Amino acid sequence: MIPHVLAELGYLLASACFIVGLKRLGSPATAPAGNRLSAWGMLIAVVVTLLDTQMVSWTAIVIGLVLGSGIGLWMARTVQMTSMPQLVALLNGFGGAASVLVAGAEFLRSELAGEAIPPETGVVIQLSLLIGAVTFSGSLIAWAKLQEVMTGKPITWPGQKLMTGLIALGIVGLAGWQLTDAASLLPAFYTVIGLAVVLGVLLVIPIGGADMPVVISLLNSYSGIAAAMTGFVINNHVLIIAGALVGSSGIILTRIMCKAMNRSLANVLFGAFGQTAGTGGAIGASSEGLTVRSVSAEDAAVQLAYAQQVIVVPGYGLAVAQAQHVVRELADLIEKNGGTVRYAIHPVAGRMPGHMNVLLAEANVPYDKLFDMDAINDQFEQADVALVIGANDVVNPAARSDPASPIYGMPILDVDKAKSIIVMKRGMNPGFAGIENALFYHPRTAMLFGDAKGSLSALVSEIKAL
Ligand code: TAP
Repeated sequence: MIPHVLAELGYLLASACFIVGLKRLGSPATAPAGNRLSAWGMLIAVVVTLLDTQMVSWTAIVIGLVLGSGIGLWMARTVQMTSMPQLVALLNGFGGAASVLVAGAEFLRSELAGEAIPPETGVVIQLSLLIGAVTFSGSLIAWAKLQEVMTGKPITWPGQKLMTGLIALGIVGLAGWQLTDAASLLPAFYTVIGLAVVLGVLLVIPIGGADMPVVISLLNSYSGIAAAMTGFVINNHVLIIAGALVGSSGIILTRIMCKAMNRSLANVLFGAFGQTAGTGGAIGASSEGLTVRSVSAEDAAVQLAYAQQVIVVPGYGLAVAQAQHVVRELADLIEKNGGTVRYAIHPVAGRMPGHMNVLLAEANVPYDKLFDMDAINDQFEQADVALVIGANDVVNPAARSDPASPIYGMPILDVDKAKSIIVMKRGMNPGFAGIENALFYHPRTAMLFGDAKGSLSALVSEIKAL
């Protein structure tokens, strides 16, 4: 065991690493260093905890470390960028389960030792169990929806909200009872955990799979709050600080995502968005009889090769097609021909925050070529070509002009203002919101149909051959 003051200093250092690391995640240029600093913070926290307390044998710790690191390494190497939200959901769920185990173990330890639990510790134990168990089961449902192990559609039935409300009330009642009536402790303890697991399921199944990224961000925040509560239970300062950081950043991210979709959190959680799935239109005509104009890779290549100003708008389809490297190759060719290429990044393009930034960074696209929506929207009018790659909802003008549209009010990239627009997608399928997009029928729009990677490769070959 190391002296207590040394352990506290170690925790302080670890907390400082977390805070500075988080701050550095704010810019793509400093994010990798921020990530490494936070990882060092975690290593310090783990080592200090191991030296400060000796609750389990070193053999158990080494087995846990090897197993955990092995699984983590395998997941980090194999997971696709488009499956990242599912992975985050699983990690949140495990975080919630860890809080339940630690707070539950502390509760059972006091019980077995016959120690009276002070009321303030009792309250945080109950909160840790409740929030941790809800996070665990809710995250598993979010994972199952995104992984398509279960239907992504909202599952609702009459009286569902009443049932959820009654279970929540039951949990509060039982938790309160445990704080006052010592004789009833153990059965109530297990019932609270069981009901909280059911509550997590009930809270997430009515939400459509398409809203899962917001839910995951919220559950991430819950897992942080549960961890902070657990920190109070075992009186561990670094856990309280790290939990509070996760809890608050998760809530901020949830708010940013809701704002970028112009939806309230209540609408996301209780609005059952996506219950009526949209249908993919046939290539050719819109529901109002408007027709699309398609373009060949050869013609699009000529237009791009001689364009002075090109704005690339990446979306979910670019991520699915893994077309980030070939888009960079195309941009290099356009720039070699004397044009400038910039990238317009919508805050919710793709399926998770920062999705497009990470993809483009992977292909070494310079950060100074990436522009946020507010910084680039007034530049579209001067753009010779807006090249939309696998993006749909984030460029749908109905968000500006059609009050009846489900995405009305969502801030969008003003692609329709460009002198000419090339949209790359495989067909006329709708995007995440399941609605038609008038941009595809716009007189200045030409559709280049096909998988984004294939079409971009064709453009590269055509430009090289010019
Ligand atoms: P979407 O609106 O989802 O559209 C993606 C388009 O990509 C589809 O219309 C699809 O059409 C096309 N596509 C799919 N695979 C392709 C491929 N291999 N090659 C070429 N095209 C392909 O994407 P977006 O514009 O990026 O918008 C994101 C949506 O997700 C928004 O509605 C947003 O609110 C929502 N959302 C995002 C987040 C975050 S944080 N990013 C969180 C929650 C919700 P085809 O099938 O016809 O090719």
